[in-house]
Amino acid sequence: MKKVLFFLVVWLFVLSFAFSAAAAERIKIGFIVKQPDESWFQDEWKYADQAGRQLGFDVIKIGGTDGEKVLNGIDNLATQGAKGFIICTPDVKLGPAIAARARANRLKLMSVDDRFIGPKGAVMEDVHHVGISAYNIGSLAGQTIISEAKARGWNLKNVGFLRMSFDSLPTIKERTEGATAALVAAGIPKARIFDSPMKTLDTEGSFNAASITITKHPNISLWIVGGGNDNSVLGAIRALEGHGFGADRAIGVGINGTEAVAEFQKRNKTAFAASILLNARQHGYDTARSMYFWIRDGKEPPKITWTAGTVMTRKNFKNLMGLK
Ligand code: GLA
Repeated sequence: MKKVLFFLVVWLFVLSFAFSAAAAERIKIGFIVKQPDESWFQDEWKYADQAGRQLGFDVIKIGGTDGEKVLNGIDNLATQGAKGFIICTPDVKLGPAIAARARANRLKLMSVDDRFIGPKGAVMEDVHHVGISAYNIGSLAGQTIISEAKARGWNLKNVGFLRMSFDSLPTIKERTEGATAALVAAGIPKARIFDSPMKTLDTEGSFNAASITITKHPNISLWIVGGGNDNSVLGAIRALEGHGFGADRAIGVGINGTEAVAEFQKRNKTAFAASILLNARQHGYDTARSMYFWIRDGKEPPKITWTAGTVMTRKNFKNLMGLK
C-alpha cells in the first residue's frame, strides 16, 4: 500500500511538473494600439487573435491612448510573461522611450502603422516596422477622386478641394501629399486647395475642421474631399451634408476601407464615393505571426514591410469584403 501511495505521489509530481512546463512554454505577445475605438485597430486585433488561435500563442491587447498608458502597458506585459509586442504608438515621438522600455523589460519590439521618430527627427530604422506605402496610396486616392469627377463631367477648374490634413503624423502627411500631387497633376488649381488641419485624427476632428473651411468658402459649388484615412473623410462628408452638399455635389475618397463599408451599405448614395482598402490582415495577423516566430525560433522579421491598397467602391465592396 505504501509503495502504491509513493508511486502515486511521484506520478502526481511528474504530472504537475509537465503541466506547468507546458503552460510556461505557451508564448505570449502584446498588441498595443493608439485608438482602440477605431475599426482599423479592432480589425488588427481580430487578425492577431486569429494568428494566436491558429498557431497556439496568446495575444494580450492593450489600448495605449497616451504615453503613460503605453509605458505602463509595456511593464504589465513583462509582468504577465510576454516576450515581445507590436505597437501602433499614440505619438511617433514616443519611439525612443518605447524602445528603451522594451529593452529594459527584455521584450522584442515591432511597430505597425505609425513609424517611430528618433530624438533628431529621423525615423528609427532599427525598429522593425510594417506600414502602408503612404504616398502611393494617397496618390491612388487622388486619382480615384479625379476619375469620379470626370465620370460626372465636372470641370476640374471649378471644384474646391477639402484637404483634411493631420501633419504631425508622417504617414498621414505623406498620404495627403500624395493625393494633393495627383489632383494638381490632373488640373485642380492650387488656389482651390483648402487645407483643413484636423486637431484630432477622428471623425469629429474631420467634421470640425471641414465645417470651418466650408463656411469660409460659400462660393464653392462642388467639393472633393481627401485625407489620411476613412474617418478624416467621413467627418467632412457629414459636415458637407449639413451645408446642403450631398452625393451629387461632393466626392470623398477615404483610406482604410473600414468606415466606407457602412456608407456603401446605405440605400441612398452618400458623397463617400470610394476608399482605398488596406490589408488589415497583413497588419494584424502577419505581424503577430512574425513576432511569434521571432520569439520561438529566433527568426528575425524583415526590418521594413510596406503594404499596398485596393480601390473599393459601392460596386466591388461586397466582393472585396466577402459580404453577400
Ligand atoms: C494610421 C491611421 C489608421 C490606419 C493606419 C494604417 O495609424 O491612423 O487609421 O490608416 O495608419 O497603417
